[in-house]
Amino acid sequence: MAFKKVLTRHVGKKDCHTLKFYKKQGGYAQAEDAVKNQDPDALIDLVKASNLRGRGGAGFPTGVKWAFVPKHTDKAKYLVVNADESEPGTFKDRVLMEKNPHLLLDGIIICSKAVGIHHAYIYIRGEFVFAYRRLLEAVEEAYSDGLLGKGIFGSNFDLDVTLHRGAGAYICGEETGMLTSLEGKRGEPKLKPPFPAVEGVFGCPTVVNNVETLANLPYILEIGADAYKKIGPEKCPGPKLFCVSGHVENPGTFELPMGVNLLELINKHAGGVWKGRSLKAVIPGGSSAHVLHADECDVAMDIESLDEAGSMLGSAGIIVMDDSTCMVDALLNIMRFYHHESCGQCTPCREGTGWLEKLVHRIASGGGRHEDLQLIQDVCDRMVGKTICALADAAAFPAESIVKKFPEDFLHAIEQGGSPASRNRSRAAVGGGTDV
Ligand SMILES: Cc1cc2nc3c(=O)[nH]c(=O)nc-3n(C[C@H](O)[C@H](O)[C@H](O)COP(=O)(O)O)c2cc1C
Ligand code: SF4
Repeated sequence: MAFKKVLTRHVGKKDCHTLKFYKKQGGYAQAEDAVKNQDPDALIDLVKASNLRGRGGAGFPTGVKWAFVPKHTDKAKYLVVNADESEPGTFKDRVLMEKNPHLLLDGIIICSKAVGIHHAYIYIRGEFVFAYRRLLEAVEEAYSDGLLGKGIFGSNFDLDVTLHRGAGAYICGEETGMLTSLEGKRGEPKLKPPFPAVEGVFGCPTVVNNVETLANLPYILEIGADAYKKIGPEKCPGPKLFCVSGHVENPGTFELPMGVNLLELINKHAGGVWKGRSLKAVIPGGSSAHVLHADECDVAMDIESLDEAGSMLGSAGIIVMDDSTCMVDALLNIMRFYHHESCGQCTPCREGTGWLEKLVHRIASGGGRHEDLQLIQDVCDRMVGKTICALADAAAFPAESIVKKFPEDFLHAIEQGGSPASRNRSRAAVGGGTDV
């Protein structure tokens, strides 16, 4: 069956972000049916049966997560939508919020009905000013139309939605960091368990879902779990947004079936490697993923296949690097980011990210030693799985894989007095020419 775009099918059309447009395309029909006619348990079972996996990075089964929320509790239950989208190379949720904000609200209503939630927060990355304005407009339109507020769709189900802007910290995308920030505290992650589904924001049961995850819900209700499972691999199905950036002719966000081949994505949809150059490396799932060497890129873009290939789907932020890339400089750029973004609570992360940045900087700037390569691995071994949240792993994975898969770039920098970029910088400083 030919693939049909679902999440971005109307992107680019005039006024596609408005309620009028969205309703004209049949929008909110599934949310209305869910609120008026569907049993909450049946909705959870449907989402479980669809095999929808979270699109925020960890790929957890969405219906299973919802089922962890206690059914009978005196406490309020909350939905917190993760719209922080800070993973380098990732810009899919932004497209949805700017171009199709009512699809997200549609999904929020469905999730809220299934879990018995009457208040949802959307925690949106502070830098997303335009997306915030678009979402705000959409929320106001939805309130005016009786889709949010008291007795939505004329039922006895109440639902409020509050937008909350972050202040530009990557760690507030980690779910417990986000919830702590939403409570007005410093956005520091917490140890799990307890998981948010049991004890989340304000100490209450909380569903945390990514924007794209929730945007899949109306379609699952529309076509049913069996048909949904046929889009891509059965264990990890559905329409998927892939963000392609870096050295390609046509970078952007592409909606394709889960499991599309990575080379097809790069060569056909993103226009191929730019300037007639050849492929050197790809980071397939945001900067936290293990890098793939060019000869490992004939792989399906889904959770299981990338796992087998030694990397991960993560946030599906695909960063393409051509054969002119110095992997020492690429790694230095990534390590600066993680060192800057570590919240500092855990010693292996606070110190480890700093060590990694300093070691790679030393190699890039000409002071590297051969034993630094083993030292990078040793630092990574002391970080992975030893901290409160996965930021330490996210820093260690690119570090260990880039050094392991591209040793020649590191040896060249160690033996030739630094990376090409740093040699160019020093020569430029004394008025000389450049290597490239
Ligand atoms: C350091 C770090 C940063 C993260 N950033 C994001 C993010 O920006 N957006 C997101 O949806 N999930 C992010 N996550 C994953 C969330 O913790 C969580 O798994 C996700 O929001 C759950 O939603 P899902 O099940 O719908 O994917 C991050 C995780 C870590 C460890
Ligand atoms: S792993 Fe890093 S970012 Fe996560 S809680 Fe520990 S110090 Fe903070």
